Amino acid sequence: MSSENADQVKESVKDYYGKTLKTSDDLKTSACKFEGKKMPPAVRSALKLIHEEVSSKFYGCGLVAPESLEGMKILDLGSGSGQDCFVLSKLVGENGHVTGVDMTKEQVDVANKYVEYHAEQFGYSKPNTDFKLGEMERLSDLGIQENSIDIIISNCVVNLTADKAVVLKQAYRVLKDGGEVYFSDVYTDTNLSEEARKDEVLWGKCISGALHWKELIELCKEVGFSGPYLVISRPLDVDPKLRKPLGDAQFVSATYRLFKPPCDKSTDTGSNVSYKGSMVENPEEFKFDVHNTLTKTPKIVSAELATVLRFSRFAKHLDFQPLEPGTTVPTDDVYSNADPFAYCAANNLAKTSGSCCAKPAKQEKTGCGSKPAEEKNGCGSKCC
Ligand SMILES: C[S@@+](CC[C@H](N)C(=O)[O-])C[C@H]1O[C@@H](n2cnc3c(N)ncnc32)[C@H](O)[C@@H]1O
Repeated sequence: MSSENADQVKESVKDYYGKTLKTSDDLKTSACKFEGKKMPPAVRSALKLIHEEVSSKFYGCGLVAPESLEGMKILDLGSGSGQDCFVLSKLVGENGHVTGVDMTKEQVDVANKYVEYHAEQFGYSKPNTDFKLGEMERLSDLGIQENSIDIIISNCVVNLTADKAVVLKQAYRVLKDGGEVYFSDVYTDTNLSEEARKDEVLWGKCISGALHWKELIELCKEVGFSGPYLVISRPLDVDPKLRKPLGDAQFVSATYRLFKPPCDKSTDTGSNVSYKGSMVENPEEFKFDVHNTLTKTPKIVSAELATVLRFSRFAKHLDFQPLEPGTTVPTDDVYSNADPFAYCAANNLAKTSGSCCAKPAKQEKTGCGSKPAEEKNGCGSKCC
């Protein structure tokens, strides 16, 4: 895409999220569903404290709340009205910090309006969130320093940029060594036609800017990330009225985690790893990705995964034992492990209609904010 077209796409995206959409009720689609039973209780309680105006403008496609967040410094790319930032600001605690970046002024204004409100809700003496108006392709212009962030999250945003490589390079630059990118987005299984790519309606609905999932693997290699590791995936169906330029392309909403490896990652040769059970919400097991669940019983992991774990914030929750001489060390086949379509097929997951952006559940008003309706409809997010 030419830089002129990329600028045009940005303006149309800003217009869509700033002016066309007033609340997630305006979306004609409802793909943003995840089951309430899978939502960690701490996330569920934090969601109940989020201001209704913030939740009403939530347009994400997944749950971006990784494990072990206490004290972390988090950056949200495309933070919108700030729902994920405020939830995470509760999970990182008063000594952690969350910064949101979004290029749509109307969305950033909503987020800024409720910074003090959420600090009070969480009982903090001062806010631990801030929001910056700007582009995720230009994080240095926003004063975000190199090697300064522990975790980057993003929820249904990377598909909206014409230059995914620049975004991942920026993310890599600002992450600390061992840091993680944990993000939900829309992926396709084919190379979309020029006609589809140029369709502004499908672009705004997070469909035609979707990466082929294999491109994500190539981008990780190019930028230097370890991964992608697939956390969850579910199929999306597209409104038949919009399907024509898409041909047979299939879509999923998937969450991946990527890690910035340490400079010297030559030491690991695979390891026997066990989980200490020390993450409060996961006493029995640590589900790292769809292929690796760590428990108190040691598991042999590949050299790359051993390195990722040893240099990540998870290391303190894990025991690493050297392998017996002669042990066969598994190698990760990233193309089969990261395939979100194979995951959906293997798990018989049914399609949900629409794009990444979702219509929210009806919320019951409570004394201190709003209450998600997951108890009633099995949907764990206010976006459903
Ligand atoms: C689908 S909405 C998701 C918003 C938020 N993550 C949520 O879950 O509610 C996409 C958001 O990404 C923002 N966005 C898109 N491209 C961007 C870019 N290049 N830089 C910064 N923000 C961007 C839009 O302004 C919009 O608020």
